[in-house]
Amino acid sequence: MKNRYAVILAAGKGTRMKSKLYKVLHSVCGKPMVQHVVDEASKLNLEKIVTIVGHGAEKVKAQLGGQSEYAIQEEQLGTAHAVIQAKDFLSDKVGTTVVICGDTPLITAETMESLLSHHEETGAKATILTATPEDPAGYGRIVRTPEGSVEKIVEHKDASVEELKITEINTGTYCFDNKSLFATLSKVSNDNSQGEYYLPDVIEILKNSGETVSAYKTESFEETIGINDRVALSQAEALMKKRINIGHMKNGVTLIDPENTYISADAIIGQDTIIYPGTVLEGAVSIGEDSIIGPHSEIKDSSIGSRTVIRQSVVHDSSVGNDVKIGPFAHIRPESAISDDVKIGNFVEIKKSSLGLGSKASHLSYIGDAEIGADVNLGCGSITVNYDGKNKFKTKVEDGAFIGCNSNLVAPVTVGEGAYVAAGSTITEDVPGKSLSVARARQVNKENYVDRLSMNKNS
Ligand code: UD1
Ligand code: CA
Repeated sequence: MKNRYAVILAAGKGTRMKSKLYKVLHSVCGKPMVQHVVDEASKLNLEKIVTIVGHGAEKVKAQLGGQSEYAIQEEQLGTAHAVIQAKDFLSDKVGTTVVICGDTPLITAETMESLLSHHEETGAKATILTATPEDPAGYGRIVRTPEGSVEKIVEHKDASVEELKITEINTGTYCFDNKSLFATLSKVSNDNSQGEYYLPDVIEILKNSGETVSAYKTESFEETIGINDRVALSQAEALMKKRINIGHMKNGVTLIDPENTYISADAIIGQDTIIYPGTVLEGAVSIGEDSIIGPHSEIKDSSIGSRTVIRQSVVHDSSVGNDVKIGPFAHIRPESAISDDVKIGNFVEIKKSSLGLGSKASHLSYIGDAEIGADVNLGCGSITVNYDGKNKFKTKVEDGAFIGCNSNLVAPVTVGEGAYVAAGSTITEDVPGKSLSVARARQVNKENYVDRLSMNKNS
């Protein structure tokens, strides 16, 4: 493979977003735009990826971590000025550099690869990835000679009335012969309506010095949309959602209503799993095969096994095993580990707790900071009393224990293996294994009490 490098432009503030968050960190299907771009670029066989950071540099670096090297652009004087910042990493390299804007989250590795191949085949010093959208407003236009070869790129704000009629646009992705790129960048001026150093001007300078410049037109403009404001962000979200959902359906996942199913870019879903409408899978979610999720379930950064059913429920930062039934209306909060064959029914909240193989909490329970063994039955209304107003304490329920309805387990406390807790108990001391604990007031029946009451009333 030839020496290939990438520069990703991510230093802008993104004024048009009107946001406290730096533009390239806005998420599309749960993943920051610049992360989408770097993930795709990482699929190519590149020697180096250099990301130009400025506004929010630390946050962008924290997001991308070791996937890229970084050059700082202290002042955002334009896209050409941005690329110059990578000179210490790249200017002495022989090979091809692909430049991609950090605000084009839909660009794919396949398209970048086609662009690179086209560039390498034609031997041009620069190749622009172009597209013809229905509405070219806002984009730089590709000005061609009467013979059809690329002459220059003119920014929307600098374009004449005639040039504004051009529908072929600059997508903001380019390939350059690396040496020619760095030799030309210093010749770019900021004599334009925005007073910026435009990277697209490199094309005209190369052309005028007799070099070959080329364009590679992609059929899919949608892949190249640049996100400058929240309207475009919502369009990117819709396009990415469609792409992700089609990908899962092609992999054998049934989406009952893809329009109303929201799956993060990083989710992994096994064959024959069925996802019902209103389901949101956020972040790093993995789901096994033959599971049924939804309707209206929210799963974030969690792993879910196979043949598991999660109806109208929320699961965050937790793991759920195989053959589990959750919901409707259950809430699995962070750091919970639900083993295989567990049943968690309606209005059950689990927090930072583990439930062993085959255990059940079928109705109306709060289980927090607890270690629940295997084959435990937590009766309706079982509560772990884990908080004294200052500190949290642990509850342990060992294998095979049976907790009767409406019981409070006041932590720290352990219910031993196979023990029974009578319904309505408030357990404040450990329960030995295989014993029955009754911790409630004895029932008193006052016979004929009602008659006596009414006699008193009549007298
Ligand atoms: C740019 C192109 C335009 C193209 C469009 C495609 C220029 C001058 N224009 O316009 O021809 O049609 O993209 O989407 O390049 N950035 C920096 N430092 C800077 C300025 C920008 O890192 O000093 C980064 C931004 O963070 C952004 C990218 O470069 O990720 C593009 O900048 P933006 O201001 O969005 O350019 P456009 O006006 O969209
Ligand atoms: Ca842009």
